[in-house]
Amino acid sequence: MSLRTERINLRHDGTRPQHDTDFIVRPPICADDLRLRARSRIPRFAFDYLDGGAGAEDALLRSRQAFRRTSLTPRILVNSAEPADLSHRFLGRDWSLPFGITPLGLPGLAWPGADRALAKAAEARGAAYVCPTPATETLEELRLAAPTRSLFQLYVGASPDITQDLIARAERAGYDTLVVTADVPRPGKRLRDLRNGFGLPLKPTAATLADLVRRPRWSLATARAGAPRLANLAPYAKAGAGARTLAEVMAAQSSGRLDWAVLAGIRRRWGGRLVLKGVLDPRDAIRAVEAGVDAIQISNHGGRQFDAAPAPLDVLPSIRAALPPDFPIALDGGVRSGEDVLKALHAGADFVFIGRPFLYGVAAYGPAGPGIVFDMLAAELEAAMAMTGYRSVADIRRTGLNREPLAAGAWTLPEA
Ligand SMILES: Cc1cc2nc3c(=O)[nH]c(=O)nc-3n(C[C@H](O)[C@H](O)[C@H](O)COP(=O)(O)O)c2cc1C
Repeated sequence: MSLRTERINLRHDGTRPQHDTDFIVRPPICADDLRLRARSRIPRFAFDYLDGGAGAEDALLRSRQAFRRTSLTPRILVNSAEPADLSHRFLGRDWSLPFGITPLGLPGLAWPGADRALAKAAEARGAAYVCPTPATETLEELRLAAPTRSLFQLYVGASPDITQDLIARAERAGYDTLVVTADVPRPGKRLRDLRNGFGLPLKPTAATLADLVRRPRWSLATARAGAPRLANLAPYAKAGAGARTLAEVMAAQSSGRLDWAVLAGIRRRWGGRLVLKGVLDPRDAIRAVEAGVDAIQISNHGGRQFDAAPAPLDVLPSIRAALPPDFPIALDGGVRSGEDVLKALHAGADFVFIGRPFLYGVAAYGPAGPGIVFDMLAAELEAAMAMTGYRSVADIRRTGLNREPLAAGAWTLPEA
């Protein structure tokens, strides 16, 4: 087994699954099952694109380890006969769950129709779905698939005209929240993609073709649906130009042009709610609040941009402490279970976004996948809340951070 294969066979946290769950058909027991099933169903270059991170994938690992290191102490004799209330208010809206789907570019690589499946599953459950700039269907189509639950993620590229047009299109389509991603000044150096020769357009190398032949269901479904394309950016490619030009348009989306002045311009232009995604430093968080954003999203882009980046969960306490107590903070990166969602909320996040598990879900189960992932994570979160005595999400946020310390002497036994 090559070193590389060895690495892929490990979980994100570097441990080895006890059993090879490739053969599990349904239902999935956990996010790791989904990942292994996804790996067995889609070509390697597609799996590596969605599973991988930048460099040696240390940031990816660190994000997971931060959750694994964190424990939550159970509380007992809290009547939990009734299920806990998972509903939650965030960014002026009522959500049925305190977690949602983070923006995921090129999801059509996981399975054809993935964008729509993600959007519809979120809409059906009253959960959040963030439509990415590099979606494989248009932001207008995806708004229709999730008319009340969708937010739009914006990449600010080299061309101010394209940025302005994307904002205008989001507004016309009815989006009321813009998520500006701030952590892509340069494309991430993703070694798996580079080794696979993965890029747009897909180059039909011998290895890619062999890969496609090994995964006939994905290949046929993709051939029928058409190769995944950057649907939102297509109008900006030169008329008559092929995917290469589109790829150039996409590359220009990581131009480093975004700065505080550009953000201020977006703030003036956009009347809806504004979220800044990719914050990891308390100084940037403070500046974002001053710039008038409505929320920040702590994120290291799933470890896909900068391998030296810290784990989002590790920086959350310092950012929480630096901001006004009620300022909304979302977090993503390394969340793989309902218990992880609870850990993030408990540590001070107001909302949690999740990426890869939803892509594993759609690769593993097709259009039904995202719904399966939502339901699995919601059940895990509810059980974790029963274990820790939380009856509602507000309860976690109220007591999680400011849990009453034991009064001095509280442990002395009463006199007999
Ligand atoms: C395949 C893939 C594509 C992504 N595309 C985008 C994107 O287009 N825009 C964006 O802001 N973040 C993007 N991200 C980052 C996610 O929004 C999020 O930060 C990250 O996936 C969270 O980590 P997790 O996958 O461990 O949950 C992408 C992540 C993955 C895995």
